[in-house]
Amino acid sequence: MAVEVDIDVEVLKCEIKKTYARVSQEPEEDFIFPTGRAWVLDLGYPPELVDRLPEAAAESFAGVANPFALGTLQRGEAVLDVGSGAGTDSLVAAQMVGAEGSVTGLDMTPEMLRKARAAAAEMEATNVAFVEGEAESLPFEDESFDVVISNGVIDLIPDKDAVFSEIQRVLRPGGRIQIADVTIQNPVSEEGRRKIDLWTG
Ligand SMILES: C[S@@+](CC[C@H](N)C(=O)[O-])C[C@H]1O[C@@H](n2cnc3c(N)ncnc32)[C@H](O)[C@@H]1O
Repeated sequence: MAVEVDIDVEVLKCEIKKTYARVSQEPEEDFIFPTGRAWVLDLGYPPELVDRLPEAAAESFAGVANPFALGTLQRGEAVLDVGSGAGTDSLVAAQMVGAEGSVTGLDMTPEMLRKARAAAAEMEATNVAFVEGEAESLPFEDESFDVVISNGVIDLIPDKDAVFSEIQRVLRPGGRIQIADVTIQNPVSEEGRRKIDLWTG
């Protein structure tokens, strides 16, 4: 069910981009959410895959859980990472699917995309590409992917129906989603929903 949100979505996107540009450019800063390689390991990612991650990706990891806890990806699969940030999940996925598979990371924050591309180049990962775009209107053909992963992104987006409808559109029949995200147990008050700071973190 869609929730009415009395918030200027363009202002919100602008604030989200500012926040995650900082996570990209000043990863040592204290954020209200955990970040970095130690957090990746705490979440139970396979250490041997984390070891191969360049620091550029790991230091700006800002996920909320581990989407691979829902299952290891298979060799040869085509994967979309919605809200790929600095690229940690995309680069973990790239190691799982191997050279015969492919990973596309999508993000709307240019600074995050730059960092993810630099990390992929440093890792010499040739099966990963990072694309600028928005989760609510994915710039991909119908039925392009076997798996959609996402980590800590959909909670930031008011129009969740649009995101899930786009994910369904780009998944092949029989495709699957492996999403790590924040959920709420109780409805958030109208006043709370209007607070941009609560959305961005
Ligand atoms: C909390 S970070 C998580 C990044 C990454 N998944 C990770 O685990 O490190 C949220 C990311 O989602 C991106 N994002 C937020 N809203 C988006 C949208 N509507 N479309 C595309 N990307 C979005 C932000 O730019 C940011 O890089």
